[in-house]
Amino acid sequence: MDTLVICGAKPLQGQVKVSGSKNATLPIMAASLLSTGEVTLSGVPELDDIAVMAEVLRILGAKVYRDHDTMVINASTINSIEVPENITRRMRASNLVMGALLARFAQARVAYPGGCAIGSRPMDLHLKGFRNLGYEIDEEYGIMEGKGGKIAGNEILLDFPSVGATENIMMAASLTPGVTIIRNAAREPEIVDLQNFLNRMGARIRGAGLDTIRIEGVKKLDGVEHSVIPDRIEAGTFMAAAAISRGDLWLDNVVPEHIQPLIAKLREIGVEISTWTSGIRIIGNDHLRPTDLKTMPYPGFPTDMQAQMMTLLATVSGTSVIVETIFENRFMHVQELRRMGADIKNEGRVAIVKGKKRLQGCKVEATDLRAGAALILAGLYAEGETTISRVEHIDRGYDKIHQKLLEIGADIVRV
Ligand code: EPZ
Repeated sequence: MDTLVICGAKPLQGQVKVSGSKNATLPIMAASLLSTGEVTLSGVPELDDIAVMAEVLRILGAKVYRDHDTMVINASTINSIEVPENITRRMRASNLVMGALLARFAQARVAYPGGCAIGSRPMDLHLKGFRNLGYEIDEEYGIMEGKGGKIAGNEILLDFPSVGATENIMMAASLTPGVTIIRNAAREPEIVDLQNFLNRMGARIRGAGLDTIRIEGVKKLDGVEHSVIPDRIEAGTFMAAAAISRGDLWLDNVVPEHIQPLIAKLREIGVEISTWTSGIRIIGNDHLRPTDLKTMPYPGFPTDMQAQMMTLLATVSGTSVIVETIFENRFMHVQELRRMGADIKNEGRVAIVKGKKRLQGCKVEATDLRAGAALILAGLYAEGETTISRVEHIDRGYDKIHQKLLEIGADIVRV
């Protein structure tokens, strides 16, 4: 297992091209199962999670080819409706194929996804949506088994605006006769990208990005070409890197609209940010101010940026209060940051951050994807050498992050 070794306290300068969105690509790859036509995706990031989803599609019998950031999927050869436990435990998002399998074959057997470090990650809202559409869903022996019943469009109210449940239901409903309305739907940009992809295939979906989505079922969906949106969380992570290193970064391949919550919060603490159609410039300084932060469903502050923002606030004099409302256990990075001298206390879903001017490099461990990213940020700021183990967590969601950091002046080595 690789480690990253970072020698900190160097301001980052230069330009970074942000990769395509992991969390847009994963549901779109699953949605490719809805068609027997050929799907060509461009702007696909090179990430371990994407490789796992490609493996899921191949296990189901689809053909998946990859050439740099282009991926071709042909699901005309699907010969299975089963996603085994060893796969769903590796990556929760493999559960996103369930809606597509039900829609196309009126059958699916998907093992429960593993919980992960950040929380139990239940599937109840996904299954409630499928049942509302008339599918019979049994949950036995750790398997979610769905089969067709009296399938028809329906109104579905999500108790929580779950991203995955919204996506899974959109995919199932796209081939379900009649009209389906999803209320209290998640509004993330990745949901809009999925709607645009499905509509290109011939689906009739309206309202993604708002809290009510209307899907009119169609008989068939065709293969298409699609370019995925940029990764707003990778962009946010590099924005935090510019701020924490007190550097000056230009990010290309960014949709400013998708990162408004991050821009607002960083400006609030004194970071200088300028934006244009597909780029953003971030200039850090030594007079940043503390602030309070509460993670919320989009368009609120994204939970996937909480660990990174906590790390930045740990280097800003003054007290910041962070509330994590989305996941029940997303403060795993706190104990690792404390090893580096950060003054952070967390109780339940609240963390109190007393910013300090100094952090010291030492050996730390990545516990999950975004915690790993936060430790990289801490290493960029800390005096001395920071060694981060379990880098495989970071490889799940960041495309060539250490090369990108090297190119903007970070002293970072992967061993
Ligand atoms: C997506 O996960 C993202 N993953 C996550 O990104 C992100 O943190 C999350 O949305 C929230 O924005 C992908 O898109 C692949 P949810 P998802 O369903 O769909 C509860 C990353 O770092 N819930 O919106 O699993 C759940 O327990 C990852 O890139 C239910 O109770 O998130 C959680 O508390 C991490 N029942 C909350 O909703 C359900 O049926 C949010 O979960 C489903 C979810």
